[in-house]
Amino acid sequence: MSNVFVSEHPLVKHKITALRDEKTDHLQFRNLVREISTLLTYEATQDLKTKAKTVMSPMGEAAGHTLEDAVGLVPILRAGLGMVEGVWGLMPAAQVWHIGLYRDEETLQPVQYYNKLPSEPTVSMVFVLDPMLATGGSAVATIDIVKKWGITRIKYVGILGAPEGVEEMQKHHADVPIYLGVLDSHLNDIGYIVPGLGDAGDRQFGTA
Ligand code: PRP
Ligand code: URA
Repeated sequence: MSNVFVSEHPLVKHKITALRDEKTDHLQFRNLVREISTLLTYEATQDLKTKAKTVMSPMGEAAGHTLEDAVGLVPILRAGLGMVEGVWGLMPAAQVWHIGLYRDEETLQPVQYYNKLPSEPTVSMVFVLDPMLATGGSAVATIDIVKKWGITRIKYVGILGAPEGVEEMQKHHADVPIYLGVLDSHLNDIGYIVPGLGDAGDRQFGTA
């Protein structure tokens, strides 16, 4: 699958196993989402553009680099929220623009309830964040919105993905690289990722 990058990092594998565990409580779950998001961000930012910057170290002039892009994060509410802190750990200057969608339980179609993007883009590239890529409906709808906003450089960062969601993304947004912590087996008959981790929003926010 081109444009799909599934982490092989031992720390990601270790932490995702703990994340799945039904014995993991909300606090541990949130911490793991944050930590895994930092690790995946490291992998997803390997090709960020830099520009030259010279600084004075205590030992003299040093030729260096600074990030060129103004980066925006678009967490998909609710579950994507928990990933923001992890990404900020590496890119504290990133702007955050929230998009609110929930999946209709019957149709599994995304329903938008929040979008406060300003009329003009304020960043040059966007990372869309959501721990769960299930049918792919929420990711595709969010990327539709981000593209309409005027952004062409977009990456999707998720923790668990299903083959069905990856396929849907590639059908609609083949240009958007997908970074995942793990690619699971399949969706069950109510659209949940198997073996998955259950409901990522409920497990983060204690609303199960
Ligand atoms: C979950 C998850 C994704 C979506 C994935 O959100 O965080 O946004 O489902 O499913 P899809 O790929 O089939 O669209 P949910 O709709 O449960 O909302 P919540 O985060 O508010 O709980
Ligand atoms: N959303 C979740 O939170 N979990 C799934 O398995 C699928 C969608």
